[in-house]
Amino acid sequence: MDPADFYTGIVAELYGPLKSFSQDPEPYAAFIQQAGVPALELGCGDGDPLLELCRRGLEVEGVDSSVDMLQRLQRRADEQGIPATVFHQRMEALNLPRRYRAIFLAGPTFTLLPDNATALAALHGIRAHLAEDGTALVPLFTPAPTPAEQIGQVRTATAPDGAELRVSVVAEQRDETARTQTTLLRYERHHGSDSSVVERPWVLHWYTRDEFEELATTAGLAVTAVTDPHGKPAPANATDLHFRLRARKARSGHRGWAQH
Ligand SMILES: C[S@@+](CC[C@H](N)C(=O)[O-])C[C@H]1O[C@@H](n2cnc3c(N)ncnc32)[C@H](O)[C@@H]1O
Repeated sequence: MDPADFYTGIVAELYGPLKSFSQDPEPYAAFIQQAGVPALELGCGDGDPLLELCRRGLEVEGVDSSVDMLQRLQRRADEQGIPATVFHQRMEALNLPRRYRAIFLAGPTFTLLPDNATALAALHGIRAHLAEDGTALVPLFTPAPTPAEQIGQVRTATAPDGAELRVSVVAEQRDETARTQTTLLRYERHHGSDSSVVERPWVLHWYTRDEFEELATTAGLAVTAVTDPHGKPAPANATDLHFRLRARKARSGHRGWAQH
């Protein structure tokens, strides 16, 4: 399965009921207020935080590779009476009709891109869709291995129709050289005599700070700030980093962008 298709079918169905937390909209609202609109969320999924940002009157559009997640977003938008504009695309093949003053991912969704080549294609797409004065916000993290005692543990939730939903880690492989972790997840849905069980590999790929900066530069972007998730300077050993990027000017005599 292509990693961009991970959040489809039973995984999309179980995502909302089983997710352990929703992204806090505040940092993204603050980012958009600072960077300007229109804004674009990459990997908007079923609508957190995009719907809340739209509800606040911010002009935010979304992109996701999973039509199942987008259908859920649309259903929630309709239920809440929030107009939402979303596109079914992969962020590494972005082709939208406009440019944006703010492009962001809410949480470390960029880590779902499985290798540097895919990441570079996504960064080129961000560069191509940024307005001249636009800013991108890319949160990254270095995942910790799943603790051994959590392998096989089951998390459960109840679906709106009463079905029992279960997710567990079956196994995990980690490659520190390729900076890739593949976690085999088992998703289950049980309703009376009706059961479905699916096992899917969930791939995370992470970056050193220098490596990500080099990829961004190659894509024509300049790193203007690297902070922790609260906007404070990031310590050298930080595992959660927020990168702010702007289009690099080709002109000679460019004096660089201000930090903010
Ligand atoms: C962990 S979910 C986050 C969704 C939402 N932002 C939230 O916080 O609830 C990640 C989303 O990224 C999407 N995604 C994964 N790879 C993608 C890609 N290559 N291009 C676009 N979207 C992608 C998935 O389909 C999924 O909906």
